[in-house]
Amino acid sequence: MLDIPIIIINFKTYKEATGDNALKLAKACENAAAKEGVSIAAAVQACDICRVAEGVSIPVLAQHVDSISFGRNTGFILPECVKDAGAKGTLLNHSEHKLEHGVLESSVKVAKECGLAVVACATDSEDAKRISAMGPDFIAVEPPELIGGEVSVSDARPEIISDSVRAVKEINPNIRVLCGAGIKNREDVKKAVELGAEGVLVASGVVVCEDHEKAVVELARGLKRQE
Ligand code: G3P
Repeated sequence: MLDIPIIIINFKTYKEATGDNALKLAKACENAAAKEGVSIAAAVQACDICRVAEGVSIPVLAQHVDSISFGRNTGFILPECVKDAGAKGTLLNHSEHKLEHGVLESSVKVAKECGLAVVACATDSEDAKRISAMGPDFIAVEPPELIGGEVSVSDARPEIISDSVRAVKEINPNIRVLCGAGIKNREDVKKAVELGAEGVLVASGVVVCEDHEKAVVELARGLKRQE
C-alpha cells in the first residue's frame, strides 16, 4: 500500500501546510518524488484529505483517526470517512496526539480493518516494542524532545533507531520501522537508513522551508544513496 523506503511529510497544522497551501506543498512533494524516483507520502489535516488526494498522485495519509465506527460519534474522525476522502493510511499516537494504550490498540485494529495503512508513532525503543504487539504496518520512532529542533534523531540518538529496529523486528519482522525528529538533510536520512530505518517522518525540515520541492529532493537523495 505504501512503498518503502519512504519519506512521510507530516503537514501538522502549519500555516504553510493548511488549505490551499496543503495542496501546493503536496504538489511539491509529488514533483520531488517523480524527479528522484522515491516513495513520498503526505500526512495532512483531516479537512484537507479530499482536496490533496484529488490533486496529487502520491499517497495521502490522515494524521489521526479515532477508534469508532458509523453512528453517534459527533466530532470524531471516522476511519471509513478518511478512506472515502482518499487517504491510503493514517498516523496514530503522534507525540502531539498521544493515545492511551487500549485506545491505540483498538485504533490500530479499526484503521486496519477499514483498509488504511497504519503508521503508529513511538517515543523510544521500549514504546516501539510495546506497540509492535498491536500489529501496525509501520512504527515511527520519534524522541519528542528533538521534534522541531535543529539536531536530528540520527545525530543525537542513533541508538534509538537501531534499538527500535531490533526490538520491533524481533516481535514482527513485517513491521516497517521509520524514524523522525529534526531530520533536515540527506545525511540525516542516510544515517537513519544505515541504522536500519526503512524511511523517515519529517515536518519542519520541509514545511517551513522557502523552497519545498528543493527540501524534499534533498531528503530523497539520502534515501537514493542507499540503493
Ligand atoms: O511527525 C514528524 C515530526 O514530529 C518530526 O517533526 O519538525 O522534527 O521534522 P520535525
